[in-house]
Amino acid sequence: MNLAIIIDLAKNLLGLRNKYSGNTRLDGQVVVITGANRGIGKETAYQLSLRGAKIIIGCRDELRAENAIKEIVSLNPNANIIHIKLDLSSLQSIRAFVQQIYENETKIDLLINNAAIASDIEGKTEDGFELIFGTSHLGHYLLTLQLLPLLRKAPKARVINVSSLAYASGRIHFENINLRNGAFNMMAANSQSKLATLAKRLGANTTINAYSLHPGLVDTEWYRHIESPVVKFIAKNVTKMFAMSVERGTQTTLYCALEESLDSESGFYYDNCLLVDNMYANATDDKSAELLWQLSADLSNRRLDGQVVIITGANTGIGKETAYQLTLRGAKVIIGCRDELRAENAIKEIVFRNPNANIIHIKLDLSSLQSIRAFVQQIYENETKIDILVNNA
Ligand SMILES: NC(=O)c1ccc[n+]([C@@H]2O[C@H](COP(=O)([O-])OP(=O)(O)OC[C@H]3O[C@@H](n4cnc5c(N)ncnc54)[C@H](OP(=O)(O)O)[C@@H]3O)[C@@H](O)[C@H]2O)c1
Repeated sequence: MNLAIIIDLAKNLLGLRNKYSGNTRLDGQVVVITGANRGIGKETAYQLSLRGAKIIIGCRDELRAENAIKEIVSLNPNANIIHIKLDLSSLQSIRAFVQQIYENETKIDLLINNAAIASDIEGKTEDGFELIFGTSHLGHYLLTLQLLPLLRKAPKARVINVSSLAYASGRIHFENINLRNGAFNMMAANSQSKLATLAKRLGANTTINAYSLHPGLVDTEWYRHIESPVVKFIAKNVTKMFAMSVERGTQTTLYCALEESLDSESGFYYDNCLLVDNMYANATDDKSAELLWQLSADLSNRRLDGQVVIITGANTGIGKETAYQLTLRGAKVIIGCRDELRAENAIKEIVFRNPNANIIHIKLDLSSLQSIRAFVQQIYENETKIDILVNNA
């Protein structure tokens, strides 16, 4: 056990845990919290409901989510809280969740990426990624990326990643990200996923701030998926002996969500309601962060199911080939071309090569402002979002 963990546990034992004491209200704000049917996520949902926010909890199990909502409403009868099914170990489920959010919300003010799984059994996500990394990092990566347009619609938004001090003892296994061929163990997987969760890249001039945090050792049943009786016994008893209450363990999340002075900070890591400015070197290497971003984009974007793509000038050449390739990945493709007949022929050819292609044409002549406006109008009438715009013509 390293010194940082000993100090962390000592803070719990000595009661040296800070409490967020601000009175920021969230009336009119929309908050999305993942994995909020138990533990820190559920307490966060309850606490933020008390401040007037509309809360959307994304959980994988309908019944557990409904029970959590019942419990929160029994404590706060005014709670404005709903559930939308979200399984972070399925890229398709993430896309369906995002789709539902887009259909019902015009903005998101706070996204709290809280869900995680701790298991000593080597598992796989629906898309074949190592379960812990796939859920905690890759799932949240895709979720955040897809919700960015709605986060941008809020005057100021925050993305909060619930990470862990476990990051300190790990590294990102770029050479074997799924920890295959015997490389899997719970510690390596957990610390890799939590190190990855620290990645920050929202671009310059953004109205969205990003924070990550360590909640401390908290008295939840985080160890419930551990199968080794010995490891589970140790994890459970260390938690019972040293952990702080769930209410206390939610304070740093609340601090990152609510503290107004953080408006001027982004991309940092917090513990005990304080900024940590002496992070371990493994978490501050910009090259690794960039590499991880690229890898995550590659891994999560292999399929485009549920996504809408617009390609201009796609009745021939590179545009037509791009349209064909993207239909193969499951996207709905809209080609904008000036000539109806050439567009229809291109679609026939694409459908011949890919009978499952979901592809339509809307007339677009980029040399006419009026035609561009009519094209845009039709898109607005029929689509609720666009994921990719390829200006090819
Ligand atoms: N407790 C601690 O001591 C501690 C320490 C450091 C960091 N953390 C971090 O704090 C966060 C909350 O932890 P916790 O202690 O509250 O854990 P928890 O009680 O185990 O709660 C985890 C939540 O994540 C959900 N989840 C797991 N896999 C999911 C998936 N594929 N899709 C959607 N939701 C999924 C769980 O849902 P189910 O109920 O369906 O399983 C549950 O709601 C985690 O990120 C954890 O790593 C906790």
